[in-house]
Amino acid sequence: MTGLPVALAGWGTAVPATRLTNAQLEARVDTSDAWIVERTGIRERRVAGADETTATLATDAAAAAIKRAGLSPTDIDLMIVATASPEQPLPHTGAFVGEALGLRCGSFDLAAACAGFVYELVVGAAMTRIGYERVLVVGAETLSRIVDPEDRTTVVLFGDGAGAAVLTPAAGGEPSLLAWDLGCDGGAAGLLEIPAGGSRRPASARTVAAREHYLRMQGQEVFRRAVRAVVDSASATLARAGLAASEVAWFVPHQANSRIIEAAAQRLGIPPDRTLVNIDRYGNTSSASIPLALFEAVDDGRVRAGDLVLVSGFGAGMTWASALLRWGVR
Ligand code: UT7
Repeated sequence: MTGLPVALAGWGTAVPATRLTNAQLEARVDTSDAWIVERTGIRERRVAGADETTATLATDAAAAAIKRAGLSPTDIDLMIVATASPEQPLPHTGAFVGEALGLRCGSFDLAAACAGFVYELVVGAAMTRIGYERVLVVGAETLSRIVDPEDRTTVVLFGDGAGAAVLTPAAGGEPSLLAWDLGCDGGAAGLLEIPAGGSRRPASARTVAAREHYLRMQGQEVFRRAVRAVVDSASATLARAGLAASEVAWFVPHQANSRIIEAAAQRLGIPPDRTLVNIDRYGNTSSASIPLALFEAVDDGRVRAGDLVLVSGFGAGMTWASALLRWGVR
């Protein structure tokens, strides 16, 4: 596998203005700020307001990415939206985002949960090799709408947000997406799921009464597998590129739990000062978490042109995806 010459021509993020702190959650469920901080690293998360949805956050992030790339929405010739909390079951979320942006190009949603942004980076980059010149990839979530407000084991973890990037062929032909690894172990599908609302368990009064339309997670087992998935997938990606962890300038893991991030980084041999963490402010935003962490660090000057960036996500499925990028290739 050789690298792909793709440029991240623009990037953008969007989060709701409303903050939900651990102290506010203490008033809603049997939890404590101390438990949440110690077990997860989360201090607050953003939650969508009444007029915000997955598509509105996606649209805001996408518009910022298009502007940053110096383009207009009509320049986009393909859009992929990764989400685990779609606007509605049908049509795909991209239909709403495309309408809001004024697009008529092809679009589709990509379902790979918290690995979604890395999956669509790889898919989007590949599409630039078959004639698509400006591919918009968006990771967007309103997880606050799919967590059970009475379930303390999940309601404290998840938040809302979006991140987007415009991918174009790199003008100089320099490989910038150096290597990647995509995977899924469907044997673990039951560990993190919304059981009802699909063809297997259609919505009914019974599924609603049983709270089966909310996200459910077997946290400890997901935790165990997450560390292994990130370490194995990131290691495989580095090996494919022929590079060592010591050469990585920035490790950008999915922000699910600060203890998962620390354990994975330590096993990979990447020190904390080269690992991007913003889970304290946003919680777990699934497909939005990697772009929120990466683009924040690009915008504040930590990530610089030429830096080797290792992104790694994992989530429901269980999916995982890693990619190694050379930042700043044009
Ligand atoms: O992005 C998709 C992938 N998702 C993840 O990677 C999440 C992976 N899992 C995790 O991050 C962790 O497993 C959790 C943060 C979900 C849970 O942390 P844990 O250290 O694995 O806790 P636990 O599930 O073993 O629960 C320990 C105790 C239990 O009480 P008992 O049985 O020891 O009495 C829970 O009932 O903590 C209790 N507990 C809570 N206590 C206060 C569970 N949730 C809470 C809570 N507040 N919110």
